[in-house]
Amino acid sequence: MAQKDIQSVLQEDRVFPPSAQFREAATLKAGEVEAMYAKAGDDYVGFWADLARADIDWHRPFKVSLDDAHAPNYRWFADGQLNVSHNCLDVHLRERGEKIAIVSEGEPGDVRRLTYAELHRDVCRFANALKDLDVERGDRVVIYMPLIPEAVIAMQACARIGAVHSVVFGGFSSNAVKDRIEDAGAKLVITADGGWRGGHPIELKRAVDKALADGCPTVQNVIVYARTRGCPMRAGRDVWWQDAVSGMSTTCEPEWVDAEHPLFLLYTSGSTGKPKGIQHSSAGYLLNAKTSVRWAFDLNDTDVFWCTADVGWVTGHTYVAYGPLAAGATVLMYEGAPTFPDGGRFWKICETHGVTILYTAPTAIRALMKLGDAIPAKYDLRKLRLLGTVGEPINPEAWMWYHKIIGGERCPIVDTWWQTETGAAMMAPIPSVTATKPGSCTKPLPGIFVDIVDDDGRPVKTPDAGGYLVITRPWPSMLRTIWGDNERYLQTYWEKFQNRYYVAGDSARRDKDGYYWIMGRIDDVLNVAGHRLGTMEIESALVAHRLVAESAVVSKPHDIKGESVFAYVVLNVPRPEGAAAKSLIEELRNWVGEQLSPIAKPDEIRLTDNLPKTRSGKIMRRLLRSIARGEEITQDVTTLENPAILEQLKGGAAAPPAVKRAAPVERATPVERAAPVKRATPAKRVADAKRVSQPKRDTVSKKVAARSRGKKAKVATKRTKPITRAKRAKRKVAKRRVVAAKSGRAAAKTVRRSSKRAAGSRGSRQK
Ligand code: WTA
Repeated sequence: MAQKDIQSVLQEDRVFPPSAQFREAATLKAGEVEAMYAKAGDDYVGFWADLARADIDWHRPFKVSLDDAHAPNYRWFADGQLNVSHNCLDVHLRERGEKIAIVSEGEPGDVRRLTYAELHRDVCRFANALKDLDVERGDRVVIYMPLIPEAVIAMQACARIGAVHSVVFGGFSSNAVKDRIEDAGAKLVITADGGWRGGHPIELKRAVDKALADGCPTVQNVIVYARTRGCPMRAGRDVWWQDAVSGMSTTCEPEWVDAEHPLFLLYTSGSTGKPKGIQHSSAGYLLNAKTSVRWAFDLNDTDVFWCTADVGWVTGHTYVAYGPLAAGATVLMYEGAPTFPDGGRFWKICETHGVTILYTAPTAIRALMKLGDAIPAKYDLRKLRLLGTVGEPINPEAWMWYHKIIGGERCPIVDTWWQTETGAAMMAPIPSVTATKPGSCTKPLPGIFVDIVDDDGRPVKTPDAGGYLVITRPWPSMLRTIWGDNERYLQTYWEKFQNRYYVAGDSARRDKDGYYWIMGRIDDVLNVAGHRLGTMEIESALVAHRLVAESAVVSKPHDIKGESVFAYVVLNVPRPEGAAAKSLIEELRNWVGEQLSPIAKPDEIRLTDNLPKTRSGKIMRRLLRSIARGEEITQDVTTLENPAILEQLKGGAAAPPAVKRAAPVERATPVERAAPVKRATPAKRVADAKRVSQPKRDTVSKKVAARSRGKKAKVATKRTKPITRAKRAKRKVAKRRVVAAKSGRAAAKTVRRSSKRAAGSRGSRQK
């Protein structure tokens, strides 16, 4: 993309109105949109209540629309009853039973298509399997899966029986899995032996085994979907998915739950070391998920909708597992890396499956843009009619490339601003009506009220003056609380402006046309490749290393990932230099990868003898940020307790140079970095590890295995014995006794563990 284009965009403030062709074909017309805004402006509660009646199939209709008696713990449609899975599947059976609900492409190239009738059948069977393992309404279930249809089936099955799922992104480490299982008190874990990523299997079950070996006393069973090469199974605890569903009924009466019944918890980074379990409701969440796909994506019955997000993130919840299914659309899922086996994979998928709407992150767009225009030019992208972005601000250069090279200048780009906490898109263009500006998420959707306020909570009226982004009225899909910590919910989102506004944690500006431009986070949260990471989380992982006394983490702008992680580390041993420093830095990076996730690995680590602190002992983060960015220091350093440290922090003679890493374009898990496929064929691995059991594979893995062995697939059928019903019942009684006896000890252990983490999360540790 020519430099000229970028500059002209920035200078001319270019505006892209919807084309006449798009406007005419779109479902929503300007008049309707105007009427929606007018109605919502007059009576936003009535506006949402009318939509809730029209868009949700209620088991028991609601009478109370918004209950604000305990604000800011708002409740929507609270006396109504429904089931979310029923609203995503059963409601379509008559008219769309034979329509494709999910098209899924695995990284090795295997394609599966599930109609709504088939998806309904599979969800029911799996829901029955969950019930058979004693999972009941309100129980928490952790899902740690590759991006394959079974991940959605697992989520929908939980919703069907009223269990509360908490999906953990497959790129997270066993430690992160353990923390989340323990915080949620999960009874069951659903995982897979592995998933394919970058040509390698990501061994998910191994991470679960490690998490369970280290704690997680509440987990009774693990269901394992056989996808890759098999894995060790613990008799009595683990059961293959394929065995669990065999013989199960293909119908399952939905569990009718209250509108406010928690649909899921999703952990996200906050400004402290401990991730927050964001709790969402059933009806309100479903309503915004469903209406926003219609409004922001103009989703209709003939679309093939591809949201590239993993179900481990909120985007994959709302725009893969729930919203498009509630709307009866065809959803595409792709398991693997965007550049595997080459940079054309995304575009090939669009061509092969006739994708009409593509929704992805600026990070992916920038990474693919770097590979050049020739690659997408090889594919037929003419079916695309709408493009979307989410997760971080998109720079005009990437926007223009997306618009021209991918969208052929005919597709509107919907830049959607929202958060795990908001449940669904809050600000986005309505593509048939709103003119777009590269880099702006435009305006709030109907029924959503947003403002920019100053430190005292006064609305900022001056165009382009920055301030806190706040949402001024409650909305149906708002988070309900933080799991187990309502106090933290109140403090984090409401306290700053005395419960008047929801504080998003972003700064933003509004231009003279009323368009919003997100400027970044105001808290200690980084946005690396569209993933939220708390600086404190990374710091507490670093100080958990035996050689680290103290650390401070800041962000640094990055060409592709948006932001990269820069860590300053103070050791509790003499600071090494040269090769020894390099190798320690590498060790620390890997350590963070293991503790949290490879996404969180610092791109750069600088070893230093001390951190710049004020006399009151506060780390001067702004100063560290400037140093990391190589900016001139303009801050007042007179309050620095130890000014001499500045030279060393800058990487001066006395300090070892920061070791800079090439940033991985997409998530890389430890397994991706491990031995390539060729070095360990499935057959060899089985022979190497006698304990590995090979379950009944799905046809895909048969083919994959056959390909890598270079001969005809032969299915290894040895599997752990299915647990019989009688045994299960016996075990249940025994387990209850054990759990009851253990619970005292387990609780004490948990307290000890969490106090250790809390100490670590302050970013320093007394040695
Ligand atoms: C950022 C992802 C600019 C923002 C759905 C927000 C964005 C955080 C945009 C939430 C956007 C999200 N433009 N920034 N269109 N969308 N963000 O919880 O900082 O993973 O607070 O939810 O991502 O990230 P989360």
